[in-house]
Amino acid sequence: MRLQDKVAIVTGGGNGIGRETVLTFTREGAKVVIADFDEQAGTSVLQEVEERGGTAIFQKVNVADQESVTQLVEKTIETFGTVSILVNNAGITADAMTHKMTPESWQRVIDVNLTGVFYCTQAVLGKMVEEGKGKIINTSSVSGVYGNVGQANYAATKAGVVGMTKTWAKEYGGKGINVNAVAPGFIETAMVAKVPEKVIDKMKAIIPLKRLGSPSDIANAYLYLASDESNYVNGTVLHVDGGIMM
Ligand code: CAA
Ligand code: NAI
Repeated sequence: MRLQDKVAIVTGGGNGIGRETVLTFTREGAKVVIADFDEQAGTSVLQEVEERGGTAIFQKVNVADQESVTQLVEKTIETFGTVSILVNNAGITADAMTHKMTPESWQRVIDVNLTGVFYCTQAVLGKMVEEGKGKIINTSSVSGVYGNVGQANYAATKAGVVGMTKTWAKEYGGKGINVNAVAPGFIETAMVAKVPEKVIDKMKAIIPLKRLGSPSDIANAYLYLASDESNYVNGTVLHVDGGIMM
């Protein structure tokens, strides 16, 4: 049990990578708060966790709404007494070539993927600093590190996540808090299912491992960064992308 007695918040825990992370973390002994906007998906993951004998609760949250995030962290501490791990995993895309991108879709992606990560992190810092320990894991992307056609909004947020990760690693390392990021490549979830097939074919052709990643490939990276095995890892961006860019 690599996360025995830890309390973890997983944002976007209802679907895709987040869902797999909730199942992985509870299997490893963590008590997990499934924090998602999607109530139906969140309660279905909760049911699955309970059927497998794990411990979790579902909390409906919009990470882009500061009040909602405050309630999430209050509920976590009220239920489980602390918060040891935050996985800032919730994210959205609204892809378009830049000349066609609306200000609305620019702002929506910034609000969730960038401001949402700031709100969630800010909300857990008080408790983590008080306890003198904590693990914060952010989700960047291959798009944030190298850019990607049609993703000016998304790439800006995912590059921003790298900047915040390194800043927080410097600000809070001395308080016993490790802050790291995972930068996934193309992973088989609903987010990638929206990508035109010709683009996916191009991607597969340049990935040395010749396949898309699975949600468990990322959940296992989050697990490493959440566990004591990574206690001397701070401010890093772990690329889990099949070697798509080197
Ligand atoms: N790499 C290289 N070229 C690409 C590309 C990519 N990822 N995406 C699109 N293009 C090219 C197209 O082939 C096309 O080229 P030609 O004009 O030479 O044919 C050109 O860009 C314009 O594309 P479209 O004709 O499709 O134009 P559109 O306005 O109808 O759509 C688009 C543009 C919305 C960007 C659409 O192409 C698209 O959805 N592309 C995929 C974007 C993408 O990769 N999103 C990743 C989502 S998954 C994710 O975000 C997870 C993560 O972190 C990686
Ligand atoms: P997904 O679309 O399958 O799941 C995202 C989850 O986030 C959903 O459950 C959704 O309800 C939730 N969510 C969205 N907006 C929210 C909000 N405002 N508040 C609370 N929850 C919200 O996506 P996937 O693929 O599992 O992505 C997870 C993370 O990984 C995202 O940050 C994404 O950007 C990142 N990522 C994904 C890659 C991929 O190829 N799938 C590649 C690189 C990064």
